[in-house]
Parts: sequence; structure tokens; C-alpha cells
Amino acid sequence: MTIENILLIGGSGFVGRHLMNALARRDVRITVPVRRRERAKHLLPFPTAEVVEADIHDDATLARLATGQDAIINLVGVLKGGNGKTDGKPWGKGFDRAHVELAGRVAKAATAAGAQRLLHMSALKADAEAPSAYLRSKAAGEEAVRQSFPGATIFRPSVIYGPGDQFLTVFAGLAALAPMLPLACPAALFQPVWVEDVAATMAESLLRTESIGQTYELGGPRLYTLIDLVDYASRTAGSPGNILPLGDIPSYLMAWILEIVGGPMTRDNYWSMQVSSTCEHGEMGVLPFGRRAAALEIIGPTYLSDGRRRAGFDALRAGAKR
Ligand SMILES: NC(=O)c1ccc[n+]([C@@H]2O[C@H](COP(=O)([O-])OP(=O)(O)OC[C@H]3O[C@@H](n4cnc5c(N)ncnc54)[C@H](OP(=O)(O)O)[C@@H]3O)[C@@H](O)[C@H]2O)c1
Repeated sequence: MTIENILLIGGSGFVGRHLMNALARRDVRITVPVRRRERAKHLLPFPTAEVVEADIHDDATLARLATGQDAIINLVGVLKGGNGKTDGKPWGKGFDRAHVELAGRVAKAATAAGAQRLLHMSALKADAEAPSAYLRSKAAGEEAVRQSFPGATIFRPSVIYGPGDQFLTVFAGLAALAPMLPLACPAALFQPVWVEDVAATMAESLLRTESIGQTYELGGPRLYTLIDLVDYASRTAGSPGNILPLGDIPSYLMAWILEIVGGPMTRDNYWSMQVSSTCEHGEMGVLPFGRRAAALEIIGPTYLSDGRRRAGFDALRAGAKR
């Protein structure tokens, strides 16, 4: 199987830029459709990549983009997509559009265009019965993908960290800005995975026919509670903040207030964190194709330890999606 042409959807985001790096080492041509070209300025220097402004929600545009592609990769995802129901489906409109509708349409376009491979990004613990709309919509997205492109390779990562993440960097920044950081869901469990490991695994899967039709969980070598992660991130960034762990009801109320004011958390995020974001299959710390997952303690200092100012700046920038 030769993969020479790749359509990378959702390539302007955090994982996208690292995946571009991994793919750029290969002899491939990559087309990256984006909503706003200025959000993808960082991709312009890649000589083998073509960044095009396009509306991927338009079927004709998607069909045109898919034509001639050997592989299509869909990274599109949102963390806020509504709590309510959409046409009787148990998730909000934003989740439906990004995780379900688009996922199905990309899979249909991939089949119609005769693409050999489809890689689809889901999330760990995606489940039709999950307490959060995010996870339910991710499960529905997987189903829509499998229906139209049964050979798709699906990835389900735990939280992903690395330069430009909106998780550890944001918490490190908030700890630097606030004298006291109230923390919702402090006992929530995660198995953070390094973005370079995610990108390398996805890129490698394109060369591996055994990955066709598979679903892979992606997690790092250790489990952490949220409070441990926030404490680690803030100490590594040089601002060991005072973290105030909140109980269950205050956590929910805080999520609700932040949702109302457009802050970094919603009630659906609260519900997501009621499920442990930890892998159930495979050996701890071993990624697909035998790759050893990097330890957070090795990678964290390389991008979090630049100090308070940088962490605070990154937090603000991540919040503004720039
Ligand atoms: N980061 C994590 O910890 C994590 C963990 C588990 C799963 N995932 C999944 O991994 C994937 C990539 O995550 P990420 O961290 O790279 O996210 P990100 O930085 O927010 O990037 C998301 C990408 O999706 C695009 N997008 C979002 N909504 C869209 C819509 N309605 N129509 C078209 N494009 C849309 C964004 O385009 P713009 O640039 O135009 O906004 C961007 O290219 C997502 O599917 C996410 O759910 C991430």
C-alpha cells in the first residue's frame, strides 16, 4: 500500500500541528483544509503541505478535497458542544456537527473517493451510555465512521499533553495568575499521553495494514489524578500555586458558573470527568506497534519549565485559541 497523498482535516489544531511534523518526515503531499487560514499560519512553512481555506461541511467541497487522496485523517473535535438534545439525539448541536455529522460525511466521502485509509480521532471511554454528551457524541461518530468506512482506524486517546496543549499549560498558567486555584473534580483519573507519541502512532498506522479496521486506545505509562497533574504542572512551571480541591457539589456548581460565563469548563466537562480516562486494553505504557510511551516527568519540563510568564501567556493564548 503506497500512501502519497493525504487529506488532513482538523490539522490546524494542537494534534494537527504535531501530526504534520510526523508526516512531513515522509515523502507525502498533505492537503489541510482550514476554516481560517490565519489559524494555520504555523503550517505554511511545511513545503509538502498545502493549506486551503474550505468549508468541509459542504458535501461538494469535501468530495473535491477527497478526490485523489490515498488517506484521509479526521482530527476535528470540540470540547464544548452543548448539553441538550439534538433532534432526539442525546448530545448538543455543536457535538453533533463536529463529532457525528462531519465524521459520517468524511467517511462517506473517503469511500466515494476510493481512499485506501481513513484515520479517525475519537476519545478514550467514548460510549453511547457515557454520562457526558462529549463522550456519547464521540461514540456516535465512531459508529457513523464504521458504517461508511469499516476499515477506518480509530484512535481513542486519554488527555494529550505537549507544547501548545490546552490542559497542563492552561493549568500551569492559571496557577501562575491566581493566588488560590479552586479545582473541580480533583480526583478525576487520567492517563496522559505525549502528543508526539500520538502523532508518531497515527503516522505509523498508515504503513501498517494490520491497523485497518482497528480501534486503538492511547495512554501514557502512568495514571494521575487531576490534582496531581495540576500540582505537577504548576510546580514545573515554577509557580507552586495553592490548589483548593472542591467536593462534588461545588465542582458541579463551579462547572455551571464557568459554563455560563464562557470559562474553561462546562457541566459536560464535569460529567466527562466522572469516567476515568484510563486505558482498558493493552499493556500500560505500550502504544500500538510496540512504541513505548514517554513519561510525563521527562517531557513536562521541556515545555512547562519556561517559567510563570510563559505559562501564563500560553494559558491566555490557548483560551483565545491562538
Ligand atoms: N487534546 C486532547 O487532550 C484530546 C484528548 C482526547 C481526544 N482528543 C481529540 O483529538 C482531536 C484533536 O484534538 P486537538 O487537541 O488537536 O483539538 P484542537 O486543537 O481544538 O483542534 C481541533 C481542530 O478541529 C477543527 N474544528 C473544530 N470544530 C470544527 C468544526 N465544527 N468544523 C470544522 N473544523 C472544526 C479546528 O479548526 P479551527 O482551527 O478552525 O478551530 C481544529 O483544526 C479532537 O477530535 C479531539 O476531540 C483530544
